[in-house]
Amino acid sequence: MISKSKIILQIIVIASVALSIFLYYQLSIRGFLDDWCSCKCEMDSEANLWQSERYNRSTHVFMNSKNGVLDFETFDWWTSLQGASTVANFTDLVEDLFSHFPDKDHYSDSSSSRCRSCAVVGNSGNLIGSHYGALIDSNDFIIRMNQGPTAGFERDVGSITTHRLIYPESAVDMDNNTHLVMVPFKILDLQWLISIFTTKHIDQTYMYVKPSLKADKNKVLILHPAFIKYIYESWLQRQGRYPSTGFISVVFALHICDEVNVFGFGATRDNAWHHYFDNFAINFNGGPHPGEYERNIITELHQKKIIMMYKGW
Ligand code: C5P
Repeated sequence: MISKSKIILQIIVIASVALSIFLYYQLSIRGFLDDWCSCKCEMDSEANLWQSERYNRSTHVFMNSKNGVLDFETFDWWTSLQGASTVANFTDLVEDLFSHFPDKDHYSDSSSSRCRSCAVVGNSGNLIGSHYGALIDSNDFIIRMNQGPTAGFERDVGSITTHRLIYPESAVDMDNNTHLVMVPFKILDLQWLISIFTTKHIDQTYMYVKPSLKADKNKVLILHPAFIKYIYESWLQRQGRYPSTGFISVVFALHICDEVNVFGFGATRDNAWHHYFDNFAINFNGGPHPGEYERNIITELHQKKIIMMYKGW
């Protein structure tokens, strides 16, 4: 016969072991066991130098009516990305844009006391089984991109989306709490943005695109073409043709957030490259983006403790 006190002792031992395992798991996924610090930590001087060679605080992140007219070099580079569609007058288009969408200097509130945490959620299959959902949702901003859904994947990817970066060919409906962040790769993308909320007449770019979209017009933000050029030149050293939405999202977060946590980038443990929401294998070194170079920069950002990258399962 086992005495009652022995049973209680065994329960206490088992519960302590379970609690220790749970705490270890929680602390390691949050990075604390790597001596991680959060929000505006002092980088060492080498990381500081590396960052300062790439990061330009004064670049325009968003377009507005005051900064929307592009210099010749930017206009030329930008309109070479996906072919130039004709527009009678780009200045008129900019004016038209900001008669529909908020015309502000967004997120220019950076200060030494601000501590805005952001989760950047890429679409990698390494999120499956990660249980990152609650951790992702605990950030102030949750930045997703393209088609990455939350419904049905909440445990691993979370359920909140404050910002979603899209372009016409990758657009999905979004709820009223989400900022549609337009990543324009061509003039037609800006015309499409107006059209989805007004005439709904544009349904074709280099492929079929949604002629209308569910999204809050008053929350629309438009990335500045010069911001995409800056990422290409300063962060990617002109590798590939232009940056991917994923890489743009990471640099975007570096500009508007004080702590950047990155999820859903890279291969799965068994080296598969697919989305968490479908099984199609993707070639992440092909296409117009310098996939490997982008991955190396993201890894360096993590190693230098400028971002925190959660590698998934
Ligand atoms: O495929 P999609 O462009 O929608 O994915 C968004 C971003 O997520 C990519 O630009 C890439 O940076 C990242 N991604 C990744 N590994 C995957 C899938 C996506 O790093 N297997």
